[in-house]
Amino acid sequence: MPLIRLVYASQFASPISEQDAQDIIEISTVNNRKHDITGVLCDSNFYYLQCLEGGRDEVNHLYQKIAMDKRHVRPVILMYQEILHREFDDWYMGRIPAINISGAMVLKYSREREFNPYTMTPESAYQFLFELSRLNAVL
Ligand SMILES: Cc1cc2nc3c(=O)[nH]c(=O)nc-3n(C[C@H](O)[C@H](O)[C@H](O)COP(=O)(O)O)c2cc1C
Repeated sequence: MPLIRLVYASQFASPISEQDAQDIIEISTVNNRKHDITGVLCDSNFYYLQCLEGGRDEVNHLYQKIAMDKRHVRPVILMYQEILHREFDDWYMGRIPAINISGAMVLKYSREREFNPYTMTPESAYQFLFELSRLNAVL
């Protein structure tokens, strides 16, 4: 079965607390480990941007579950492709906290400094997550 990368954007259903964000990472780390899914999650400015990597069936199944989660709305798949290898293989679900996302970094990948993943191209959204993860921004 092919290895897949899926990147999607969504919006918070309501403002989240630090505890809410940590709860998602905690359950994700436990579940994703079981299914050999890796990736990163960025939560900032009322938006989520998440990358999932793994087997096609596993990623599809997880995305269907995530898309139904009432904690966010308007999930939109930005990228879905077969890949040669994982880029986030160190993290079952790494988190890129808002505080680590500078206006300059957002501007590098978007037309404005305000983080809004819906306005990013698929490749920009993916490269944004990739660069942030390589800056040791992932907890
Ligand atoms: C933005 C967001 C990202 C999520 N990412 C994952 C994830 O990577 N893996 C995961 O297992 N659950 C993730 N979840 C949580 C799932 O939607 C679900 O609540 C969780 O997997 C527990 O499902 P279960 O009760 O069927 O085990 C995410 C939720 C949100 C809101």
